[in-house]
Amino acid sequence: MEPTRIGVIGAGLMGAHFLAIARQHPVCLPIGVADVLSDRAQSLADRYGVRSYSDYRNLLDDPDLDAVVIATGESFHLEPALYAAAAGKHMLIEKPLATSSMDGEKMIAAAAQSGVLLMVAHALRFDPNYGRARQAVRSGTLGDLVHVNARRNTSMGDAARLAGRTSITYYLGSHSVDTLQWVMNSPICEVTTISVQKALRHLGVDDTVLSLLRFQSGAIGALENSWIRPDGAANRKIGSSLVLMGTRGAFAVETMTPGAVLYTEGRSDPYNPAYSFEDAPFGIISNVYRDEFGHFVDCIRSGAEPIVTPAQALSAVRVCEAIEESLASRRPVSIAQDNVFQ
Ligand SMILES: NC(=O)c1ccc[n+]([C@@H]2O[C@H](COP(=O)([O-])OP(=O)(O)OC[C@H]3O[C@@H](n4cnc5c(N)ncnc54)[C@H](O)[C@@H]3O)[C@@H](O)[C@H]2O)c1
Repeated sequence: MEPTRIGVIGAGLMGAHFLAIARQHPVCLPIGVADVLSDRAQSLADRYGVRSYSDYRNLLDDPDLDAVVIATGESFHLEPALYAAAAGKHMLIEKPLATSSMDGEKMIAAAAQSGVLLMVAHALRFDPNYGRARQAVRSGTLGDLVHVNARRNTSMGDAARLAGRTSITYYLGSHSVDTLQWVMNSPICEVTTISVQKALRHLGVDDTVLSLLRFQSGAIGALENSWIRPDGAANRKIGSSLVLMGTRGAFAVETMTPGAVLYTEGRSDPYNPAYSFEDAPFGIISNVYRDEFGHFVDCIRSGAEPIVTPAQALSAVRVCEAIEESLASRRPVSIAQDNVFQ
């Protein structure tokens, strides 16, 4: 069986992770990694025995390459995606698709024109908890959805690592927005957003962003995103939850509830494999990113449509854009869009 030959663009947090995952995938062969910071690319290349590039175009020009993971920062997805499409390479693009719907539309059009697969890495789609939430909505078990509450909060260390490169909404909110629209089976059609800046003023970013949401279905929602969780409080930086309230039932996902806890002198480290970046026992990676990458490879090999469709990923960008616009204008912002979540 011919392997699917994989390259990674962006040798940072997620790029390193996907390289490790690709190496463990039974039908994949990672062959190269590119980063403008050539030391970063070289050190990953040495670790995984792949070629290193400082210019992603040289990686994409390799005729042996089948597919690429684009794991550059949020606003640097456009150029590599357009080049990958022109080179005929399938692409898994880290979330969010883009930081403007105009860029997102260009990327989707380029991939469609070249006939390559474009999947956006909305990792929570691969967390079975959110899958169960969607099932509960679709089956009618919850009745008519009335309101929803979604939280996703990371640590100050994460904000410091990103150093003002991006906003909370594109970095964290894009996860929540995609999950909400997918689980609720309904696009968000209006947002009203406020924010506060205290601890992270030196980085020029908000600490917390809160939005009120209206869905096309008539349901309403509250969205909370921040990056001011204390560092070192636990080994998991992300605090995330989802609560759905319907006319006949409710559903709650709470990812801070640990699967296991390690207690040592003066601290406790909760562990939840679905959210862990750590290697599982015996070094075998087992988490949402592994399953997400596996789905991408299955879609390449079978020609199936990914469960995160390009139109759905673009919809998340439109909502994030509206959240940013509402913050700037201090007004509710309406979003006209078709329901691509049915
Ligand atoms: N799914 C998740 O849970 C999750 C978690 C963190 C980040 N992300 C997403 O992953 C993406 C990357 O985030 P990160 O935290 O890994 O970033 P990072 O800063 O750790 O790494 C990004 C890398 O891309 C490189 N880069 C930038 N422009 C480049 C270019 N033109 N060519 C080659 N390399 C280039 C940078 O030098 C850097 O090494 C973002 O879209 C982010 O939102 C997703």
